Formats: sequence, C-alpha cells, structure tokens
Amino acid sequence: MNDTAVTTDVTIAGIRFKNPVIAASGTFGYGKEYKGLLDISRLGGICTKGLTLNPRQGNRGTRLWETAAGLLNSIGLENPGIKTFIEKELPALRQLGPVVIANLSGSTAEDYAEGAALLNDSSIDMIELNISCPNVKAGGMAFGLDPEAAASIVRPVRKAAANKPLMVKLSPNAPDLSAVAQACVNAGADALSLVNTFKAMAIDIYKRKPVFDNKSAGLSGPAIKPIALRMIWELAETIKVPLVGLGGIASTEDALEFFAAGAAAVQVGTATFAHPETMTEIITGIELYMRKFGFSTLDEIKIQRTL
Ligand SMILES: Cc1cc2nc3c(=O)[nH]c(=O)nc-3n(C[C@H](O)[C@H](O)[C@H](O)COP(=O)(O)O)c2cc1C
Repeated sequence: MNDTAVTTDVTIAGIRFKNPVIAASGTFGYGKEYKGLLDISRLGGICTKGLTLNPRQGNRGTRLWETAAGLLNSIGLENPGIKTFIEKELPALRQLGPVVIANLSGSTAEDYAEGAALLNDSSIDMIELNISCPNVKAGGMAFGLDPEAAASIVRPVRKAAANKPLMVKLSPNAPDLSAVAQACVNAGADALSLVNTFKAMAIDIYKRKPVFDNKSAGLSGPAIKPIALRMIWELAETIKVPLVGLGGIASTEDALEFFAAGAAAVQVGTATFAHPETMTEIITGIELYMRKFGFSTLDEIKIQRTL
C-alpha cells in the first residue's frame, strides 16, 4: 500500500462532489426509496427521476424486460411534475447529503424552459437536461439526435436557469454524437453526461408481438458499457467541458475505465437494482486503487494521449 494522500473529490461546473460517484436518473427515485439499503450519505450525487413541467403517468403495458447482460425499460417519464417535486420530494432529498441534480425533460422548448425556470428558483444544485429519453413520443430523444435540435433546447434552458450549472445528457443514438456534444457546449452546457439508453426491442414469440407498447425501449446495463466507454474516449479528445460517464458501470474496475478514458465523474444506474450497495463499494474501491497505485487525484487516472 502506498502512503500517497488521496483526494477523491471533483468539481464540475463549480459544484464540488465529495467523490465522483452519482446515482443515475430513473434508477434511484428521489433517494428516499433506497433508505436502509445503502449509506446514501456517502454518494457524490443523486440525479432525480426525469422531471417534466406537468405530471406524467408514464407508459402503459410492460415497462421492464431483462435481456442477456442488460435491461430494457420503457417507463415513459412517470413523475409528479416539477412543482410537486419541489414541494414534496426536494426537502427530504436535500437532507440526504449528496449533491442534488434535477433531471429535466420536456416535449417542447417552451415547456423545457418553463420547467427550468421553476428549478432555477429551487434549492437543487444542478440541472441535468435530458434530451435523450427514447421512451416518450414527443420530444425527449428526438432533440438529442441532431446538433441544431439539441441547441434549440439547450439555449432556452440555459437562459431560464441562469443561476444553475447545466449538464446535458446525450443520447448514444445520435448519428454524429460529437457534433451534438459540441452544439450543446456552444449553446451553454457546462458539462455533458453520457450515455442515456440505446434504442432497442424485444419480441414475445408466443404472443407474436413486440413486448413493449411503444415497440422499442431503452437498453441499459453491462451490455452497453464498452460502447459508452468508447463514446467517452472519443468525446474526451475534443470536448472541453467535464464529461460524466455512464452506461453499464457495475464495479470499481468499470468506473476506473471511464476515468482512464477521460470522464470527470461516473453515474451508476441499472447495477443498483440488483445490488444496491454497488455505488458505495465503487467509492471504496476507487480510493483503494488510488492508494495502491499512487494516484493522489482522480485526474491522474486519465490516460495521457500522445497521438
Ligand atoms: C428504469 C430506468 C429508468 C430511467 N429513467 C431515466 C430518466 O428518467 N431520465 C434519464 O435521463 N435517464 C433515465 N434512465 C437512463 C439511466 O439514467 C442511464 O442513462 C442508463 O440506464 C445507462 O446507465 P446504466 O447502464 O448504468 O443503467 C433510466 C434507466 C432505467 C433503467
């Protein structure tokens, strides 16, 4: 064991996280759902379930379907609406300790901006702008597929939430991800998170129809990790704002690969369902790795590229 002094804290868009491990949106509710299952106060941050201006009931029919090394979901942004979130969920979420990140979704530039304005006046620490949800018919991922469409949401949200750091969550389904990423940065994103789920599907061969009412759903979990990692690696070459990596992270080793590729922090989603202590184990594991191999800051884990 090396006796290097180790610091695992990271500052993203002016917000200090005590460590770089954040609960991913839609997989950690509003935090309280996991009380007693892990020490929530140890987490670096928590992203809320996707929030919209008005309440949403979410999608009908099957919503979750396990696949080999992954999970398909079609939740459809079920949430109580931003006002109710601020009144009923945010006070308890604030008490938990980690940085609070509100995941914001919408169907038009106007309702995204109206939602952002409400969050701007609340006590959240940061907004994660979701332009990448594959499970809603209007808006969502459609904005994240094209650079100009993405900028058309980021710009008004940036303006409406002038007091809050803005992280934009990208879709891996974009044909030219680096063009979308650059457009978001140019439109005012302080950080980017990636990836949201991959558009995918399953078919029930006995009913002879798609499993999900929307036909397609979003794929997450270990199956997507190597692709998400490749996307972080590529964006880290050109994008100058911090990148938060996610997609299939389930172990310390997985998280370390993302730091080596250039991520400033990571999020963990699907892995928490099967094993709620995944994130706290990763936090401990990162520190042990840093001590063992003599890294004093997370930044030092990043691979320095010579090409
Ligand atoms: C059940 C479920 C619900 C999700 N809901 C949201 C959401 O509301 N907003 C969002 O930005 N991402 C949502 N996601 C995507 C995750 O935050 C994450 O980007 C994705 O699952 C990849 O990470 P993972 O493989 O660690 O789960 C959801 C994922 C799952 C599995």
